Parts: sequence; C-alpha cells; structure tokens
Amino acid sequence: MSKQKVVFITGATSGFGRATARRFADAGWALVLSGRRYERLEALKQELQGKVPVHIAALDVRDAEAVSAMVAAVPEAFRPITTLVNNAGLALAPEPAQKVALEDWHTMIDTNVKGLVNVTHALLPQLLETGAGASIVNLGSVAGQWPYPGSHVYGASKAFVKQFSYNLRCDLISTGVRVTDLAPGMAETEFTLVRTRGDQGASEKLYRGTHPLSAEDIAEQIFYIATLPPHININRLEIMPSRQAWAPFAVDRDPA
Ligand SMILES: NC(=O)c1ccc[n+]([C@@H]2O[C@H](COP(=O)([O-])OP(=O)(O)OC[C@H]3O[C@@H](n4cnc5c(N)ncnc54)[C@H](OP(=O)(O)O)[C@@H]3O)[C@@H](O)[C@H]2O)c1
Repeated sequence: MSKQKVVFITGATSGFGRATARRFADAGWALVLSGRRYERLEALKQELQGKVPVHIAALDVRDAEAVSAMVAAVPEAFRPITTLVNNAGLALAPEPAQKVALEDWHTMIDTNVKGLVNVTHALLPQLLETGAGASIVNLGSVAGQWPYPGSHVYGASKAFVKQFSYNLRCDLISTGVRVTDLAPGMAETEFTLVRTRGDQGASEKLYRGTHPLSAEDIAEQIFYIATLPPHININRLEIMPSRQAWAPFAVDRDPA
C-alpha cells in the first residue's frame, strides 16, 4: 500500500485555504489545518474527518515560537508531510502609501513575509524527509509582479514570496522538494473584506459585474501543482480571470 499523503495548509479557515482542504480531502489526502479562528477549523474538521484523517491547530503564523511548537505537536500519523501550502496572508489599507499607518505595513510584512518564512523553516526537515514528490506551494499574487495604486507593501511582500520561492529552488535542487510561486489575480474570498476592514459593500462592489476567480479555481491549481510527476516543478503560475488585465501607464499632467 502506498504511504498516506499529507498536506499542511496555513490559513485554512477561509478562502483558498479552506477550498484547498476540501480539494485534497476529495483525493484522499490527510490534512493538517491551521489558522487563528479555531471554531472554523473545528467546523472544517467536522465536515471532512469522515473522509480523511484531519489534524487542526490554532496558529498565528507571525509567532515563530508558536509555529515551532505547533509543528512539533503534529501527531506521528501525519508525518512527514508531503505538501506545504503557505497560504495564510492578507492585504490591508488599500489607500495610497502616504496615507497608510505604519502598523498596517508591519502586519503585512509580519504575516506575508515573516509568517511564511516561519512555517517554511519549521517544516523543511519533514519535506526533506519526504523527498521526491514533496512540494511547497507559496501563495504569491499578481501584485508581486505588477504594480498598482494602493498595493505598496502588499505587492512588495508578494514579490518577496516570488523571489524566496525561486531562491529556495536553487538550494533544494538535489532534494526532490519542489517550490512554486502561485500568483492569482482577482479572486472572490474574504480577502477584500479583510483589506477594507469589514466593509461588506466595498467587497461586493469589487466583484460585482465581472467574473472573478473562485477559491475552488485556486484550490484546483494547488492540487494540480502538488500532484504532478515528481520530476516536474512549476516555478511560477500566474492566473487571472479572463475579464481582468492590465491598465495603461498613469501619467501625471499639468491642469489644462
Ligand atoms: N483573493 C485574492 O484576490 C488573492 C489574490 C492573490 C493572492 N491572494 C493570497 O492568497 C492567500 C489567501 O487569501 P484568500 O483570498 O483566501 O483570503 P481570505 O479568505 O481572507 O483567507 C486568508 C486566510 O489567511 C489566514 N491568516 C491571515 N492572517 C493570519 C495569521 N497571522 N496567522 C495565520 N493565518 C492567518 C486567515 O485565517 P485566520 O484569520 O483564521 O487566521 C484566512 O484563513 C493570501 O496569502 C492572499 O494574499 C489572494
């Protein structure tokens, strides 16, 4: 019998993370699910544990000590993990840079950069133990490649995710552990609700009258990346809705 495959997902309480848990459960993978909102993890466990083994743990990825302790406490039956989905992340403050509180910049760096690094560092030994076929799928963003107004530190944090993914690949080349920067464009999740600090109207307005990606669309890509034959590494996968593209360059002009 082949060994049980295990996916470790950060930010499994919502959006891409939750849809990814469901997608891997459908394929029979065991799940290690984390996020700060424990009651949501509990609900997801209730939903999926009839299909596959599920281990849940409340975790704030910004807390490096908590990350190490959580990883150390993962039951033996869920080790070593096969795939890490570094999904926990957020954007804050869509206002122009000059109007943003420093604290919001720090929160994005602490979560999207330091949090992702904390989890990767803690799980690398297990991924190395898995070897061929292991994967790290990092949630980057189109914002990590393309600038737009109001992206400031969010986009910069996702550019970090891209370059960290590429650099990891260089060091892991002989280990069998694959690394991908998965960079979605507009997708309808709780992302905009978080970015606008709970403005449901602003969130609905952003997605209205177009056809954004869904959480399930991204979960499908994550599953695809993680289940390719072990000799294939997707370095970066950028995915947008067909109805999203780039805008022209902005030019500041004198009044007529
Ligand atoms: N939606 C988009 O348009 C889009 C596009 C490109 C990239 N992304 C990226 O995709 C990832 C998932 O976003 P989403 O769209 O699914 O948004 P979402 O619905 O808001 O989900 C974000 C998840 O991240 C978790 N999270 C946030 N801060 C955390 C922390 N400090 N510690 C642990 N978990 C934390 C949240 O869980 P708790 O609050 O329970 O901790 C939640 O489960 C993010 O990295 C985001 O930047 C999103």
